[in-house]
Amino acid sequence: MNAYLNGDFLPLTEARVSALDRGFVFGDGVYELVPVYSGKPFRLNDHLRRLQASLDGIRLANPHTLDGWRDIILQLVRMEEAPDQSVYIQVTRGVAPRDHAFPKDAVPTVFLFTQPLTTATPEHKAAGVCAVTAVDYRWQRCDIKAISLLANILLRQQAIDVGCAETVMLRDGFLTEGAASNIFVVKDGVLKAPPPSHLMLTGITYDVVLELAAKHGIPHEVRPVAEAEVRAADELWMTSSTKEIMAIVTLDGVPVGAGVPGPLARRMDALYQTFKREVMRA
Ligand code: PDD
Repeated sequence: MNAYLNGDFLPLTEARVSALDRGFVFGDGVYELVPVYSGKPFRLNDHLRRLQASLDGIRLANPHTLDGWRDIILQLVRMEEAPDQSVYIQVTRGVAPRDHAFPKDAVPTVFLFTQPLTTATPEHKAAGVCAVTAVDYRWQRCDIKAISLLANILLRQQAIDVGCAETVMLRDGFLTEGAASNIFVVKDGVLKAPPPSHLMLTGITYDVVLELAAKHGIPHEVRPVAEAEVRAADELWMTSSTKEIMAIVTLDGVPVGAGVPGPLARRMDALYQTFKREVMRA
């Protein structure tokens, strides 16, 4: 696996940063994860826009221009053999003596690596996954894709500990998102998704799902989704760049709808796979 660190391309195992990097000491940084299909980064501009929004959110100047980022990412992707990859991008506030205050002249640390992309198999998708719910006790800026993921890790582990795949988070009686995914609800053939806000990360996959729904005439509503609607759902999905569209078939031990991936999940996954073939790989 190959990496890029502060101007150099190198094998991932050889990448080294200072122990005083603020990413290591404070989790003071942001990240992106870009899927690559047939050597082509998917929706790179959207990912780089979201990276810019995250950097703005932590008041860190973007160390590269759009073209600069594109060059680094494409060069890294070309170094890897696998046609489908996931590129991890991380920017931290750099190396400085430990002090909460922003360092005056630290240089941001830019770290990327790429690895073969593994998405769910058709068998896995046909089986679906189980999930649990938890109170979303994260901070109020979940729209920043921050590397400090401790809350997400603890929340995700609650699902793992009981043999499930994801934790569906609820804040003040409303659905926010999954620990590392966005969550969709289907009721009576209508797709429902919480609106983008500072309480969730708007996924690139979330955007694609809503675009596909609009294009193919699938009724959909983007509005706050109450906990009761989550619990009464016919279908529940989790979406992310790596999971794509994955049906949640059990929530807190209770079957969702018929307890198997529903018809709309199967249809959306088929639309997504077609989109991947015809658009993402084109
Ligand atoms: N995470 N919400 C959260 C909290 C996430 O961590 C992610 C993805 C998403 C979905 O975003 P997208 O569709 O752009 O992948 C939503 C990535 C996969 C990760 O942290 O590895």
